[in-house]
Amino acid sequence: MTTAFEIAFGTGAAASARAPARANLLGEHTDYNEGYVLPTPLPFWTGVEVGPGLVADTVEAYSVHFQDRCQRAYGVAKQGDWLDYVAGCIAILRQRGYVVPALRVAVETNIPMGAGVSSSAALEVATLRAIRHFLDLPIDDTELALIGQAAESGYVGMPCGIMDQMVSSLGTLGQALFLDIRTRERRNVPLPAGHRIAVVHSGVSHQLVDGGYKQRVEECHAAAAALGVPWLRDVGPADLARINALPEPLNRRARHQMTENQRVLQAVTALEAHDVVRFGRLMCESHASQRDDYKVSVPAVDALVEAAMRHGALGARLTGGGFGGSIVALVADDAYARWEAAVRAECPACRPL
Ligand code: GLA
Repeated sequence: MTTAFEIAFGTGAAASARAPARANLLGEHTDYNEGYVLPTPLPFWTGVEVGPGLVADTVEAYSVHFQDRCQRAYGVAKQGDWLDYVAGCIAILRQRGYVVPALRVAVETNIPMGAGVSSSAALEVATLRAIRHFLDLPIDDTELALIGQAAESGYVGMPCGIMDQMVSSLGTLGQALFLDIRTRERRNVPLPAGHRIAVVHSGVSHQLVDGGYKQRVEECHAAAAALGVPWLRDVGPADLARINALPEPLNRRARHQMTENQRVLQAVTALEAHDVVRFGRLMCESHASQRDDYKVSVPAVDALVEAAMRHGALGARLTGGGFGGSIVALVADDAYARWEAAVRAECPACRPL
């Protein structure tokens, strides 16, 4: 089979790699406050092939998805396009002292864009894996995720946490990955047997760089300062009265952080005890908290969560950065076909992944 690299450059690649999309099951917006998260890789992938380039200090690139051939000299700033994620990875590698020769890069993907399932982290992780392989770089999977995050925050300009790159780099398909962002403790947690983790795009594309994400990050820093703690990770249930006494909207932002971290810990216990009903309830509580306290949902996503529950999901919630994007729902395998048809009928703009 002819690869994307061969189509673009007429020769074979020297190395290739792929990396998955993700859905977050619980622990939303907690990663940039040193909290807990519980994402899982999804069976959608971005593949990156690399080989030696012909133009000094430049990446020549091709994307099958965008049908776009382009190139960018190293040292040139972001341009607001897909190549930013590749160029960002190269820029961070160079910043960290790695010698990156001229490269050719070809990208293909089956990850839906704008669905909030982290196509960007998958592109970063696949790019870095392919370059690591090609140049034989001594970078482990955690460091690789950190370089991807640095590319996205430092080059692309999206001040994201580390969850997406970590699960894309370290997660196992079919398992949830519990991550304590502060201590880097991590472990795989079994997903409920006999149930499906359904991801459904609301039809409203999410927009993070210009959206409210940055504002939430800043509100969290302000709330932590007002509570006298380094990070909102450092408040717990005993601090609820102090949290509630903060001015709006810092009280809501801090309350979401505190309760969401508790829910992640409870969800890990529920999953390990095979208690799907409890896990589903925690998902619904998380959605309510995102909608009412963190205010990252939109009406189309709320309607989709309500339809998902009305038609028999055990739990459903907004997943990812929010302001549009997808929901994740827990549905019994044998009810899935009927559930999907009913949700589609009620929310015609939605797209099950
Ligand atoms: C985006 C970011 C992540 C995380 C989520 C919200 O996906 O990239 O770091 O903050 O939003 O949980």
